[in-house]
Amino acid sequence: MAVERTLSIIKPDAVRKNVIGAILSRFEGAGLRIAAAKMLHLSREDAGGFYAVHEARPFYGELCDFMSSGPVLILVLEGEGAIAKNRDLMGATNPKDAAAGTIRADFADSIDANAVHGSDGAETAAWEIAYFFGQREIFRAES
Ligand code: TYD
Repeated sequence: MAVERTLSIIKPDAVRKNVIGAILSRFEGAGLRIAAAKMLHLSREDAGGFYAVHEARPFYGELCDFMSSGPVLILVLEGEGAIAKNRDLMGATNPKDAAAGTIRADFADSIDANAVHGSDGAETAAWEIAYFFGQREIFRAES
């Protein structure tokens, strides 16, 4: 399987709950490497631009409010099949539907405050990584 990169965000609810380390352990335990990381308090405009694909959805305004409600940890995860692997680790969007042992089953409270974001495909991953990181901020396993 090809080595991929994907964007992960540990959302404000999970940062507030002090479970950053627990979530990072899930990624590392599954063989993903942290290739980049930054903690930011997104502005509403930052959040709106990131989720522009959802602009027409009824939850867009609340999603932007929530994502800019506190600091987040933004990561580039790297590894074989990283995009699908991260989605598997995250679990379903709504924690009520998330499989046992997934990040959202264990740490998320609701469909809107659902602990983590993960890119849903290769094209999205490339766009999302470039939204937050320059090439000099992303590190290969060897470096
Ligand atoms: P989506 O891309 O469908 O889910 P995922 O994060 O699993 O890729 O939706 C993006 C985010 O929008 C989701 O993580 C939380 C929020 N959202 C809501 O607040 N309400 C909703 O009904 C949906 C579908 C999403």
